[in-house]
Parts: sequence; structure tokens; C-alpha cells
Amino acid sequence: MEGPAGPEVIIDGKKYLYFAGTGYFQLHSHTELIQASGDAVLQFGIGSATSRAMAGTTPLLLQLEEKIAEYFGTEDAAYLPSGYLSNIAGLKALNDLDLYDVIFIDEGSHYSNIEGAETAGKLVVKFANRNVEDLKLRLDETLKQNQRPLIATDGLFPIRAKLAPLVDYLDLAEKNNGLVWIDDAHGVGILGQNGRGTCEHLGLNSERLFMGATLSKAFGAYGGIIPGRTDFVRQVRAGSVITGSNSPMTAAIAAGLKGLELVKNNPGMREKLWENARYLKTGMESIHIPTDDNCLPIVAFTPGDAASMTAIHEALMEDGIFIQYSNYRGAGKEGVLRIVVFSTHTKDQIDTLVEGLRKNIPPAIR
Ligand SMILES: Cc1ncc(COP(=O)(O)O)c(C=O)c1O
Repeated sequence: MEGPAGPEVIIDGKKYLYFAGTGYFQLHSHTELIQASGDAVLQFGIGSATSRAMAGTTPLLLQLEEKIAEYFGTEDAAYLPSGYLSNIAGLKALNDLDLYDVIFIDEGSHYSNIEGAETAGKLVVKFANRNVEDLKLRLDETLKQNQRPLIATDGLFPIRAKLAPLVDYLDLAEKNNGLVWIDDAHGVGILGQNGRGTCEHLGLNSERLFMGATLSKAFGAYGGIIPGRTDFVRQVRAGSVITGSNSPMTAAIAAGLKGLELVKNNPGMREKLWENARYLKTGMESIHIPTDDNCLPIVAFTPGDAASMTAIHEALMEDGIFIQYSNYRGAGKEGVLRIVVFSTHTKDQIDTLVEGLRKNIPPAIR
């Protein structure tokens, strides 16, 4: 990609209508984020060149953590070098506080969630993707008396755009004196009345819910976040991920602050995103491509096998439209075609995409 991500991008010298990636509000190229990053780098340099265990905590970093906590309505929040590390650090901190005995993790969870579970230090049991019955079975057959489960999952599974059944997970956690850990990398910013993510979207609030996420997607910046209660966040900060690495880069911290502020103060962006998602789905349904009836800005579908999806992907590129053909975790054996819509796509651009799909996908495999 030879320029910023947005509704139109240049890839290998050619201009495309772009329906991929995670820049849901196109904030990665927003002038206010860029300005804030530049100003902060001039003031603080590229980074602090030391970890927070030494003198690496800048006022900017403290301000970002305060704003993350404010955004999510939590007691405190930690900022980490990446969303990937949020899972590693969060699951380890819950373990170090001795808050659970066995991890039950959705086998379709993100790489980092699985890795976090496997390195946290306790027995790990995998259950089938979004399958409450399978989870119940595994809880019953695994837990010994008084053992507390930690149920770990992605909030929004990004490849096939499916939400975790968190209502059921929380219910099972309550019944078994356990906790739920959510990687909400894709839910934050875009879901819920205040953009707090999947839990807010599902109306869930509980002391048993813990989460990690990222500023690298909806918020237009970079870096992991863990909002939560004081003792937990303190433990995250004391863990090796934060004490053992340089403080995150100044440009990312400043962009994160501005991105959070813009998302918080402009709920209209989220409403526009939901509106565009519904407009896209209505268009796709009109050409007989089935979609889920919800406001998620991602549509995944599998017209035919890997060869036919590759051919459709290439034909769309010929027509100047870039969607994703993905083999990422969760895509399945043949892979999946995937469309992501932004709040900044125009209706005309979405119409052009739908027309491209109509032209390039034979009716028999829609
Ligand atoms: C579900 C999920 N969790 C975690 C991550 C990692 O976040 P980051 O890119 O900020 O490291 C990603 C992808 O980037 C993701 O899709």
C-alpha cells in the first residue's frame, strides 16, 4: 500500500476502492492525529529509551492511560506496546493475582489470545468456536471441586464477523465462580452506544468481565490497552510485558490520545459506520448474497471454493475494487472473501462495490 488507508488506496501503483483493513473511521490519516503525533515527537523524542520500570513513564503516557480509563469508565487502564501483548499481559496478570485455576479458551480466538492462555501458567482447555454446549461439557468434565474457570474469547471474531455469546459465558462464569477474558480488539470504538465494545453492545457489565484491546484499529493509532479495576491494572503494569520493554513510541501515544478523543466526542462517526454497514448489507442481499442482519461493518462470505474466490478477488481488482480474500485464523479451509466498510465510504462507492460483486460472482455460487 503506497499511501494512507482509506476508501481509496494505491496498491502497487494502482488506485483501488478499498474495502479491507481495520481503519473503520479512517483516523490513521486524520490530520489531527498526525499533528498531535508530530508535536509530541518534537517534545518527547521518538521514545523514552527505557522501560517503565526505570524512568520511561512520560506525562503523555500517564495522560493516555487516564483517558483510556475515562473512555471505558474503569478505575484504571494500562497502555502496552501492542494489542497482541494485551492478551499476553492481561491473562498473565489475572493468573498472578490468583483469580482463576483453569483457562477455557475458544479455539477460534486470535493467535495472541491463545498464546496468552498457553503462557499464563495454568491448564488450558480449548472449546469449539462460539459453542456454549461444548464449553459446558468441558467445564463439567475438567473442573475439580472449588476450581475457578477463566473463559477466554475474542469479543468480535473479525474474520467471519461473529460475536462471542458473552451472555452465556458470563452466566457460566457466575455459576462456576469464574471470570471471562475478552480480546475486544475489533469491538472497541465501533460497538456500543459509547463505543466501549462488545460488552456494551450486549448490555453486559460485571466484576467478572476483564478485557484487553488495541488502539490500532478504530482509534487510528497503535498500541494495546487494558482498562479495568485498580489491582488488576497495577498487576499488568508490574508484569514482564511492561517492565521488560521500552515504553511505547511517542507518536503512537499521542495519536492514541487524539483518536480516543475524536471517537468519544463524535458518536456520529459510529452511527455513520452502522448506517454504511446496513446499506452495504441491503445492497448485497439485493443481489442474493446472504448477510447477517446487524450493524457490524464486516461481511464475510464464501462463494465457491478457494479457486473461485481467488478468481473473484482478482476480477474485482481488475475492476479497481479491493476486498480481502483471507486465509487468516478463523477463515476455514477454503478461506473467505471479506468486505470491510468504513464510516467514510460514500453510498456511491458502496454501490460500485455491489455492482462489482454482481458482475463478477456467478449467480449460481452467491
Ligand atoms: C482479534 C485481534 N486481537 C489482537 C490483535 C493484535 O492487535 P495489534 O495489531 O494492536 O497488536 C489483532 C490484530 O491486529 C486482532 O485481530
